[in-house]
Amino acid sequence: MLDVRLGPLHLKNPVISASGCFGQGAEAATFFDPRRLGALLLKTITLNPRAGNPPPRIVETAGGIINSIGLPNKGIDRYLAETFPEVVGLADCLILNVAGERLEEWPRLAACIGDRAGIDALELNVSCPNVEQGGLPFARDPEVVARIVRGVARETPLPLIVKLAPEAPDLPAVAQAAAEAGAIAVSLINTIRALAVDWRARRPLLGYGFGGLSGPAIKPVALRLVHEVARAVAIPVIGIGGIQDADDVLEFMVAGASAVQVGTASLRDPLAMPRIIDELPERLAEAGVAHVRDLVGTLRFPPAPPAPGRP
Ligand code: SIN
Repeated sequence: MLDVRLGPLHLKNPVISASGCFGQGAEAATFFDPRRLGALLLKTITLNPRAGNPPPRIVETAGGIINSIGLPNKGIDRYLAETFPEVVGLADCLILNVAGERLEEWPRLAACIGDRAGIDALELNVSCPNVEQGGLPFARDPEVVARIVRGVARETPLPLIVKLAPEAPDLPAVAQAAAEAGAIAVSLINTIRALAVDWRARRPLLGYGFGGLSGPAIKPVALRLVHEVARAVAIPVIGIGGIQDADDVLEFMVAGASAVQVGTASLRDPLAMPRIIDELPERLAEAGVAHVRDLVGTLRFPPAPPAPGRP
């Protein structure tokens, strides 16, 4: 009733942890068994260590949060040597999220990973808004994204998922470029660039200034973009943006997503994902839907009203 396919990946259900919201290592298993998830997806790793952005790194806002974490991590070599051994085998499907800081870093990062056992796929974070230049020079440009995917694919046989930015001027074109370059899926949306202000101090609330908005506030935007991208590409789309319950998951699937990622909801309630997975069969049964896959891309718009003056 719940299993889904993302290219070569077969997930037991469509719920994946969103990068950055469910740990980077074995802390993922603190709250529940990650085998419950369709896939366990961890926080971004870069080629070189990064300290991350100055605090405060998260502020709450109406319907969500704005974060500027800045991809803190120990770098791929130390991650693989020290943290990865604790993570491998924790989940039925393990996806590492990686990011190059410069174009030439992507293949070097991929070469460090190669065909390491225990990793089922890589998610390429071309869209972090909180690093120098906001990651957007990558995510905005279809040709740059294609070069990144091709460069990574030369160094690793792992299936590649590309995480896209809502700010790309032509998001379907970026998704198409990722698909043509060999990505097995695209995931969207990463956070929306945002600003929180302390007007008395005339300062931004976040230490880095700008940040990325996530949570229920972005769900309608994410649904629209998932729908537009899903109509434009033949590869599966993974929907991300403000998912809090099973109905949200099914809305994304009707809009065109083959699976979803849950992020901000896990920060509020670390048990949100198993709760959502438990809710899904009941919601499907209530609607008489035999399998969650039957919903993918079934959204239909009403016919356009006749032009004024015409019958
Ligand atoms: C961050 O670490 O700043 C957030 C990562 C992202 O949005 O890609």
